[in-house]
Amino acid sequence: MPYSKVFITRRLPTQLHRLEEVANVEVWPERQAPPYEVLLEKAKEIDGLLCLLTDQIDQQLIEVSKSLKVISQMAVGFDNIDILTATARRIPVGNTPGVLTDATADLTWALLMAAARRVVEADRFVRSHLWQTWEPDLLLGPDIAGATLGIVGFGRIGQAVARRAKGFNMRIIYTSKHKCKPELEQSLGVEFANFVSLLQTSDFVTIHTPLSAETYHLFGEAEFALMKQSAILINTARGAIVDPDALYQALRTGEIAGAAIDVTEPEPIPTDSPLLTVDNLIIIPHIGSASRPTREKMANMAIDNLIAGLRGERLPNCVNPEVYDVVDDK
Ligand code: NAP
Ligand code: GLV
Repeated sequence: MPYSKVFITRRLPTQLHRLEEVANVEVWPERQAPPYEVLLEKAKEIDGLLCLLTDQIDQQLIEVSKSLKVISQMAVGFDNIDILTATARRIPVGNTPGVLTDATADLTWALLMAAARRVVEADRFVRSHLWQTWEPDLLLGPDIAGATLGIVGFGRIGQAVARRAKGFNMRIIYTSKHKCKPELEQSLGVEFANFVSLLQTSDFVTIHTPLSAETYHLFGEAEFALMKQSAILINTARGAIVDPDALYQALRTGEIAGAAIDVTEPEPIPTDSPLLTVDNLIIIPHIGSASRPTREKMANMAIDNLIAGLRGERLPNCVNPEVYDVVDDK
């Protein structure tokens, strides 16, 4: 294999030796993502790109990169990458599914529990020196045990959340693109529901779909109107699945009781966003997969995909495997 040139858009939580044996590696050294113009310049001269969900890998960028053989994303979601253009250019795109499923489901669960039991509000209450005594009606929330959990998007993470919910004795319903296999429904103790009835009957709704044209603003005014006033929304998928203005109105007017989100539209959330003013919302900075072992596994998986792509081998985790089906007509 000829010596390749690789650009990595941030420092990774793992060693790069394996990659350095096969490629000339440049790592963007700053904490902030490289500006788009920098990426565009780099793209002109590289064979491999290892990017993050903060990098906009669009048509222009893919088309200027004449020697690019592989795009490897250190994330499972890949909505920041123009897959159609990559596929048209026969560039395989890698991602990191599976290794982050438990970490993300854990964080989803932490948000669900924190929102239900108002943990963040309670912490603010104490730090504001408002704690005077034990009170029968101080910071009350709903029960989790026995409540109905609605899971929107029943893939790896949605199912891992269901496994956690089972241990909490919840009723679990789900909606997804396809109904899951009866054995899986049985082993996880879940029932399929259509989207509308899931919204109408769930005490907690948790989102686990990818961001796509279909799921963009899947939650807007109409959906919040369908939800119970006591319901709590959790989003650890992608910010743009929820219309932020509609979420603000729903929380402000009491159309739903609360929400907890790891992801926002845009990211980071603008400092003047009205969402930052509502008490019944927990917002954290996109840390779903942020356990040390998970991030290291993700980085190693992204490197595996990158090396395979540089070698012209099939990526171990490829989001557009159709690039391998195309008949070479050159
Ligand atoms: P996955 O296994 O592919 O699951 C996604 C599920 O969503 C699939 O079951 C799919 O249904 C379903 N789906 C797709 N379009 C839908 C629609 N329009 N309506 C309802 N359901 C739909 O992916 P995953 O590994 O669970 O990850 C899910 C998403 O979580 C990622 O795409 C990423 O954006 C996000 N994520 C966030 C973090 C974080 O740090 N907060 C970490 C990891 C992942 P079918 O199976 O029927 O096609
Ligand atoms: C994180 O958001 C991911 O998609 O891995």
